[in-house]
Amino acid sequence: MRILGIETSCDETSAAVIEETGDQAKPWAIRSNVVASQVAIHREWGGVVPELASRQHLRDICGVVDRALVDAESTWTDLGAVAVTQGPGLVGSLLVGVSFAKAAAAAAGLPLVAVHHLAGHIESLVLQNGELPLPSIVLVVSGGHTSLYLVEQPGSYQLLSRTRDDAAGEAYDKVAKLLGLGYPGGPVLDRLAAIGNDRAVALPTTRLTHADRNAPELKGDLDFSFSGLKTAVLRHVRAHPPSPEGSGAAGALTDTERADIAASFQRVVVTVLIERLFEAARRHGAKSVGVAGGVSANSRLRAELQERGRRREIPTFLPSLALSTDNAAMIAAAGLRRFRAGHTASLDLNADAALTLA
Ligand code: KG4
Ligand code: ZN
Repeated sequence: MRILGIETSCDETSAAVIEETGDQAKPWAIRSNVVASQVAIHREWGGVVPELASRQHLRDICGVVDRALVDAESTWTDLGAVAVTQGPGLVGSLLVGVSFAKAAAAAAGLPLVAVHHLAGHIESLVLQNGELPLPSIVLVVSGGHTSLYLVEQPGSYQLLSRTRDDAAGEAYDKVAKLLGLGYPGGPVLDRLAAIGNDRAVALPTTRLTHADRNAPELKGDLDFSFSGLKTAVLRHVRAHPPSPEGSGAAGALTDTERADIAASFQRVVVTVLIERLFEAARRHGAKSVGVAGGVSANSRLRAELQERGRRREIPTFLPSLALSTDNAAMIAAAGLRRFRAGHTASLDLNADAALTLA
């Protein structure tokens, strides 16, 4: 069976066709995965403007779906279902995908499947690597989320912890802005960090407390927090001694100083993410760990995950770079999983900006 996936939760309009392989170990194959990015539109504003995003989704959705079908050498009659991101995300953006999917499902006489965006990120790991050894701990780390999930059975996702304030990707974007690196900041900061000294700037890291160590059943110490780190970078930049030609703002930083801040920030973020992930894996006796979501494209995070996995002798999984950031192939995968578990949505499905993952 082939399924069409549609993703419009933020600033990427995406459609994809995946199909079942019949191989239990690697259940799905990608036939097409088309992503129309709105980065150029939002760059001018330094971040995603929701109204502009939804209008652009509306312009792009028909062409993107057509292209996904052509690339997949499929027609509507080759499909067995339509899967769409129901939430969470920007409500105006979600509505474009949900409305399109409902209309398409009704017109083509296909079942509709509602997908949680984070289930999509988690299933990107299976789409890329095949079924994970379970139980698995998956870190979903993106512009909107930083959460640890326990996956005990295929398709079951149990939330273990989450960020108490900013998401890691959000922290990347804010710090990048502070350093004058433009939008979107994550990838630029990642590249700059590669040439900086990661010990140059002392930045705070949230640590496990003594009390938490004595009460490992409490999940609180697996939570994340990035707003303090972002503020520390801000203070460091502000306290920077004014250079003769500068004012002490980010503009006065030399390229070396900027790279050092980027590298120091990246070291702290990646260390915290990896520590919590492996601590959760230890507590739950996990047989594998995975990292998914936009920030899983980060070069240091990918390298440290693989290195830690080798040392701990636990298999580690990542999506390809194309499957790390928002895309519809992962939504199609999560949709196919749900469809096979017997879940379909009715045509009165509504977008839900704050949808929770049960
Ligand atoms: O999953 P995603 O495409 O969208 C959301 O669901 O949020 O994630 C986007 C986030 C952005 O914050 C972006 O800056 C971050 O992922 N990101 C990165 C990298 N590539 C994308 N952060 C750090 N390093 C990267 N290489
Ligand atoms: Zn995402």
